[in-house]
Amino acid sequence: MDTDTRTPVTVIGLGAMGAALAGGFLKAGHPTTVWNRSAQKADALVARGATRAATVAEAVSASPLVVVCVLDYAAAGAVLTPVERAMSSRVLVNLTTGTPREARRLAAWAAECGAAYLDGAIMAVPRMIGGPEALLLYCGSADAFAAREGELASLGASRYLGADPGLASLYDLALLSAMYGMLGGFLHAVALAGTEQVAATELTSLVVPWLDAMAADLPHLAGRIEAGDFATDGSTLDLNRAGVDLIARYSREQGVDAGQLAPLRALLDRRVAEGHGADGFASLIEALRRR
Ligand SMILES: NC(=O)c1ccc[n+]([C@@H]2O[C@H](COP(=O)([O-])OP(=O)(O)OC[C@H]3O[C@@H](n4cnc5c(N)ncnc54)[C@H](OP(=O)(O)O)[C@@H]3O)[C@@H](O)[C@H]2O)c1
Repeated sequence: MDTDTRTPVTVIGLGAMGAALAGGFLKAGHPTTVWNRSAQKADALVARGATRAATVAEAVSASPLVVVCVLDYAAAGAVLTPVERAMSSRVLVNLTTGTPREARRLAAWAAECGAAYLDGAIMAVPRMIGGPEALLLYCGSADAFAAREGELASLGASRYLGADPGLASLYDLALLSAMYGMLGGFLHAVALAGTEQVAATELTSLVVPWLDAMAADLPHLAGRIEAGDFATDGSTLDLNRAGVDLIARYSREQGVDAGQLAPLRALLDRRVAEGHGADGFASLIEALRRR
């Protein structure tokens, strides 16, 4: 591929994810400059054609587009703060995981430096980067996103959420919460089925279509939550509470830890005790909002 016509990019942070991001840019033919605190992590990328920067300032100066992906915002601050002057007129894309507040603070710092800022969240694991299954969420400067969308497409599919630099982190944390709920439930299901010698893979062949069907119903649930419509349209909180109880009881009988269900059971108990046992599942949102 002709790398001369492609925008130079810089990637700062070459952990598992940063190295994958740099690899995505290299694969797409971008002249790619890399920097990592532990310099040897750049070796494999340099062997593939990347340029190793000796300092962060050198890395930032090398490209109009600077992507940062380090452990957390404290690390991002430690790396970037000393190179404030070099940052002027760059597009800084921060793909480090953090909170909306941290993202807004870094955006304010970038504005003081004269840099355009995009905050991002990576909904993928490193091996997906560069492929169509990787989704990256962006927010911040709309102009910067429009100008750099082409380069960012080297990493995966992009979705721009809006000008507020906290949006990508907000979506990231919410989406991860949904994922952890699913993964925790899945592990409990596997442990429970395993007590009767049902193999994990065998169970999973039914878990996947079941969760697909339930996921397809989420827009309906979301609509009810938005409308504040908590009337039951199928199963009441009373019925769900009995169902959760049954799973917990059988788990205990089988010697499987039922703790994964405890937070949901506590929400159901509270809402039912307040007289909402005949409501639908959407009603539980009220118990969460009060915390
Ligand atoms: N891995 C994933 O599946 C995944 C998925 C989505 C999002 N993310 C996010 O991507 C970010 C990076 O994750 P990762 O998987 O690449 O983590 P990682 O493999 O643990 O790498 C951490 C990176 O941060 C650097 N770092 C840590 N503290 C630093 C400091 N004080 N100063 C300078 N550099 C510092 C490390 O440098 P050294 O090499 O010198 O230690 C390394 O480059 C995280 O925010 C993570 O949540 C990861």
